[in-house]
Amino acid sequence: MFRITQYMQSLMNPTPVGPARKPPGPVVIWNLIRRCNLTCKHCYSISADTDFKGELSTDEVYTVMDDLKAFKVPVLILSGGEPLLRPDIYDVSKRAKGMGFYVGLSTNGTLITEDNIEKIAEVGYDYVGISLDGIKDTHDEFRQLKGAFDASLHAVKLCKQHGIKVGIRFTLTQNNSHELPQLLALMDEYDIDKFYLSHLNYAGRGNRNRKSDAFHLTTRKALDLLFERSWSELKQGIVREYVTGNNDADGPYLLQWAEKNVPSEVDALRQRLENWGGNSSGVNISNIDNLGNVHPDTFWWNYTLGNVRERNFSDIWSNPNDELMDGFRQHPRPVKGRCAECQYLKMCGGNTRVRAYQLTDDAWAEDPACYLSNEEIGIEDNDDDRLDMPYNDNTSAKLIPVTRQQ
Ligand SMILES: C[S@@+](CC[C@H](N)C(=O)[O-])C[C@H]1O[C@@H](n2cnc3c(N)ncnc32)[C@H](O)[C@@H]1O
Ligand code: SF4
Repeated sequence: MFRITQYMQSLMNPTPVGPARKPPGPVVIWNLIRRCNLTCKHCYSISADTDFKGELSTDEVYTVMDDLKAFKVPVLILSGGEPLLRPDIYDVSKRAKGMGFYVGLSTNGTLITEDNIEKIAEVGYDYVGISLDGIKDTHDEFRQLKGAFDASLHAVKLCKQHGIKVGIRFTLTQNNSHELPQLLALMDEYDIDKFYLSHLNYAGRGNRNRKSDAFHLTTRKALDLLFERSWSELKQGIVREYVTGNNDADGPYLLQWAEKNVPSEVDALRQRLENWGGNSSGVNISNIDNLGNVHPDTFWWNYTLGNVRERNFSDIWSNPNDELMDGFRQHPRPVKGRCAECQYLKMCGGNTRVRAYQLTDDAWAEDPACYLSNEEIGIEDNDDDRLDMPYNDNTSAKLIPVTRQQ
């Protein structure tokens, strides 16, 4: 997770740069159920409205929760599928809260209504993230359900009315990027606490539909918008969180923004970004799927580290003999191609390995979705030599030079 607002605050009100913080245990994103009332075109869990057999029972979830606590996991993000379809979701959530976890609910929002909002508020979630992937028809088409946008926006309003910290989660593609300004306008209209821009990852249906990924230039413009907005809100004393995920080039890109806009603070920002270190799959981020399989993050369901029915999460996570995890733990990671030579490797960590893997079968190849040009990352090769993005052939995407952003 790349916390734009936090870095912007450090640029506006500089404080001394502290040492790198090492979280006690990984954040666990837990897909408690795979069933979903939607079938989104990008869904990494390939969820659908069917019963997926063999999911963890309530008791099994509690046993795992105890182990996670003992392993000092600080945060549980309860996800799915649609987590509100799990009959025990409130009990599971309350237990997690009672044990002292920071508990987030990751939901499509369509099932949050007047009938259950009190129950949701009662849990005391630290954060509820509701996905909105465009306005009206764009969102409904993306999520393949007419009326989904209205239902999800209604859920946002209900959460606000009940004092729940709520955020919009938006997955950027070439098909919905034009509506980003309108989605950001909703932040003002409903005083929404957080905006999370998720870059498309190549997993599940998101991999099958990877040709819809945003052009590099589109991604840059989206980030420009978030940076300007966060900066201007902070200047007005408005504190809202803008964060991104799944493309760690966002760090160096912010550094470039600071070089132009707050040059006196660039050295401090560089240090902060290096302390952050970029991609943390398999280190500070982990995933347990609906069957109890453990993965380095949510986008690696094709790679299983072990199952919590057979071994403790702590044992699975700490296994020193797993090849992929060994790579994740290395500093720097054993990335290849332009990532290996990049001047920003320390702050981006080599970006998102699953995209490289899906395109090349090599988890350590360069990430094709890095939208920084070779010139920007400090290498001499021509950009034409880069790994191609999987854009639709009928677009001119490959013809847009990534350096032509100004
Ligand atoms: C799998 S969903 C589960 C929770 C809930 N059903 C929802 O849609 O919010 C969790 C989040 O992951 C996002 N997501 C799903 N597939 C993705 C992909 N391939 N790349 C990036 N984000 C993805 C969704 O948009 C959603 O915000
Ligand atoms: S992204 Fe969420 S709402 Fe969409 S199909 Fe997947 S689990 Fe369901």
